[in-house]
Amino acid sequence: MEVADGEAVSDLETGTHGAPPVPGDSPPPAHGGGRPPGWPVAIGLLVTVAGSVGFVVAFVANASTAWLGGSLAAALLGLGMALAYWGRDLAGDEVISGPYPAPHDDAPGAAALGADLEQSLGVITRRHFLSKFLVFGVLVFALSQAVILGALGPWPGRSLFVTAWRPGRRLVTIDGEPVTREVLAGGGSLVAFPEGHTDAADSQIALFHFFGGEFKPQPGRETWSPEGFVAYSRLCTHVGCAVSQYLDEANVLACPCHQSTFDILDGARPVSGPAGRPLPQLPLAIDSDGYLAAQSDFTEPVGPGFWDAG
Ligand code: FES
Repeated sequence: MEVADGEAVSDLETGTHGAPPVPGDSPPPAHGGGRPPGWPVAIGLLVTVAGSVGFVVAFVANASTAWLGGSLAAALLGLGMALAYWGRDLAGDEVISGPYPAPHDDAPGAAALGADLEQSLGVITRRHFLSKFLVFGVLVFALSQAVILGALGPWPGRSLFVTAWRPGRRLVTIDGEPVTREVLAGGGSLVAFPEGHTDAADSQIALFHFFGGEFKPQPGRETWSPEGFVAYSRLCTHVGCAVSQYLDEANVLACPCHQSTFDILDGARPVSGPAGRPLPQLPLAIDSDGYLAAQSDFTEPVGPGFWDAG
């Protein structure tokens, strides 16, 4: 509020600016039945802070979802109430200008102007305080929601891209028996794991032996299937079930979960069902002792790709 050249410029909030009070005029009604404007904002922000702190405590204490939801609802409700009342009572300025009698010539006018100034100062001070409280309340609420990040679990790092297969690591059965070239001499298939890692579910493979020339390597994979031994990941590329059914007459692997089938003579390409990606092939070698081993890890992630999941 400022006064210059005989003119008064005032905030509408004070409700008494402009011309001097006229006898018989009644003062504007105060907000909240006599309470100063801004008190609902303060209450809303207090509820927000209390709800936010309660949410963090409930989250850390692993409390029930009722506590989590209740505290979050209280925080949001308080914030909504604070913003709504802020918009109604405290936001915006309306400047009124017009002729105002020189206060020094008019004792009642000077008194009214002094009261105006005092009231305006109170409003400005209150709004300044509530502005800071509003920022504080919003910050507390935002920070309280950061604890949700703790529910995301451990950071996966490179775990989605690597398995237990390493160059030269031998294939073993579920019982830990090394797989030699004689094991499947008559054809067929078996489940194998990396030596020392029979509990690594993401590393399980289905091993096949084709010796009639029916298997044709994919371009660029000519060295991955020595003597007709071919290995594919057993994790379905749909949502990760074990592809556990081998239909040897059709030369397909089938997933029991949603009936995807994979053509093992054609790079384990999906031929039916919801899977959209071939089963990754493991590059194989046969070492000098006749044991089957990996040339390397898989060259692509096994199981459902997180980039095309869903
Ligand atoms: S998980 Fe294999 S088809 Fe769905």
